[in-house]
Amino acid sequence: MEQTYIMIKPDAVQRGLMGEIISRVEKRGLKIAAMRLGVMSEESAKEHYKEHAERPFFASLIEYVTSGPSVSMVVEGKNSIAIMRAVNGATNPVDALPGTIRGDLAIETGRNVVHASDSTESAQREIAIHFKDSDIVNYSKID
Ligand code: CMP
Repeated sequence: MEQTYIMIKPDAVQRGLMGEIISRVEKRGLKIAAMRLGVMSEESAKEHYKEHAERPFFASLIEYVTSGPSVSMVVEGKNSIAIMRAVNGATNPVDALPGTIRGDLAIETGRNVVHASDSTESAQREIAIHFKDSDIVNYSKID
């Protein structure tokens, strides 16, 4: 089953939006196969966002995602990568449609409440940064 990595970013946790976001994922029909609340280490954040290392916003991005507790999740289901990109909405909340998480809950790119992997390769890479295989549950026996 296709898996993707989702982060509920520190601004969303701080604003009490964890339940709202988790609920949208579950109601859409996707399953949470792993989940952890914690403060992301600088090392993990830099590895996670290494494709942006040369961008001017990199330092503030790392500071933002390590600034407080965030929630890391492995979300699974058919087409989960594309579906979670659609559920989250555009990276810049100005462009995010109403009905999406960012379109309903965010106003700034630098505080855009959620992250979702953008491809199969990114999903595999990001899941491996944040979880061990043994952290991920197997639903196949009850599906
Ligand atoms: P995310 O989907 O986690 O992927 C990369 C992140 O970089 C993005 O969400 C934003 O949080 C951040 N980002 C991208 N572009 C900018 C920007 N122009 N200014 C600040 N942050 C940005």
